[in-house]
Amino acid sequence: MVVVGNQWGDEGKGKVVDWLTDQAHGVVRFQGGHNAGHTLVINGQKTALQLIPSGIMRAGVACYIGNGVVVDPGHLATEIARLEAVGIEVRSRLRISESCPLVLPSHVALDVARELSRETRGQGKIGTTGKGIGPAYEDKVARRAVRAQDLKHPQRLHDKLRETLDLHNFMLREYLHAQPIEFTPTYERLLELAAGVVPLLADVGHLIHLGHERGERLLFEGAQGTLLDVDHGTYPFVTSSNCVAGNAAAGSGVGPGYLHYVLGITKAYTTRVGSGPFPSELPIDQPGTVGHHLHTVGQERGTVTGRPRRCGWIDTAALKRANIINSTSGQCITKLDVLDGLPEIRICVGYTLDGRDIDVLPLDADDIARCQPRYETVPGWSETTAGATRWAQLPQAARSYLERIAELSGTPIAMVSTGPDREHTIVLQHPFEG
Ligand code: IMP
Repeated sequence: MVVVGNQWGDEGKGKVVDWLTDQAHGVVRFQGGHNAGHTLVINGQKTALQLIPSGIMRAGVACYIGNGVVVDPGHLATEIARLEAVGIEVRSRLRISESCPLVLPSHVALDVARELSRETRGQGKIGTTGKGIGPAYEDKVARRAVRAQDLKHPQRLHDKLRETLDLHNFMLREYLHAQPIEFTPTYERLLELAAGVVPLLADVGHLIHLGHERGERLLFEGAQGTLLDVDHGTYPFVTSSNCVAGNAAAGSGVGPGYLHYVLGITKAYTTRVGSGPFPSELPIDQPGTVGHHLHTVGQERGTVTGRPRRCGWIDTAALKRANIINSTSGQCITKLDVLDGLPEIRICVGYTLDGRDIDVLPLDADDIARCQPRYETVPGWSETTAGATRWAQLPQAARSYLERIAELSGTPIAMVSTGPDREHTIVLQHPFEG
């Protein structure tokens, strides 16, 4: 099964993956890096994961980082140490593909300097997480990445790092007017980190295949969201990987036949961090407005960067595109309880662009920016839905809202999340039985 974000990320995938992991043997990350941030609340305790699959929170579940993920070995060491400090066994359960490109300190420097340069040249920032993700993927595609497997061979690592750093430093110094990154401390730090990483390296695609042969249930955990996909998102305001469900296969080293069910995670409203068009956006600053309500009640602040998330109404024209690209089998609607108490709710059902009505998100970010949203207004509810565990517990207006989303976005609702805890979940169709 694949779990992907249906919007611009931060849909609450972490909680849902954690909940589903109860019935899974293994969890696989297949794209992105530590730009992702999953906040899990388990027994009232908050845990943030960025690189390691959420399945790590369940004893006995195998966790895989597939070849499609870019790995910052320094961050990996920190995240492992943080989990071990709270008594979670990581090393025996985590396996990392040898083919993962590494995120180096020079990628971070390039990411930060580029954003600054875009701003000074008046191009506008992408609003990246500043973790070096884009530059690391650039090196992968340019076939010069330092990969996880290179950590096993100090001389090869030395030579590849030298070549890569030479190029990065040229760009940093000459083009971006930023500080270069020194070779020797970078190399020595990588050698130090290699001791912790190398024992975790494996042929992840083959391990997943063997698990599949044994009849194991595997969960492919997407990061970011469909509208941040480098090909299908609001380019250039996107991340640098393919976040769509199809990439679960290529990014982990198995074929598409392994992906039998796609669960699209859809927040009951919309949020976005960073720049880029967002047709149903609302201002969040004014107390007493809906935007402010979504921002404060939903605690909409980036897990990784702490930036305030932009907020707006749900957009079923954008969801329709996401559901088509992902072949979504069922949707899980999250954070429904944040809408509690709103007298009425709006659904962006399409847009008007150049005098024409359209009902699916356009492909060109400039067109999206010019789209005027068209709304349908439905009644809200005054009762609380927080913590509901059964469909019948939901107010009629909430059920009608969910049914309307399913209808307009073209995909049934499989689950509803009504709060951050594992228990705050309504199941209409269990994805592992779908
Ligand atoms: P990058 O992935 O750091 O290059 O950032 C590119 C864009 O993706 C920016 O708009 C980020 O805010 C956004 N982004 C990256 N990771 C996440 C995520 O996990 N959740 C939401 N937005 C993200």
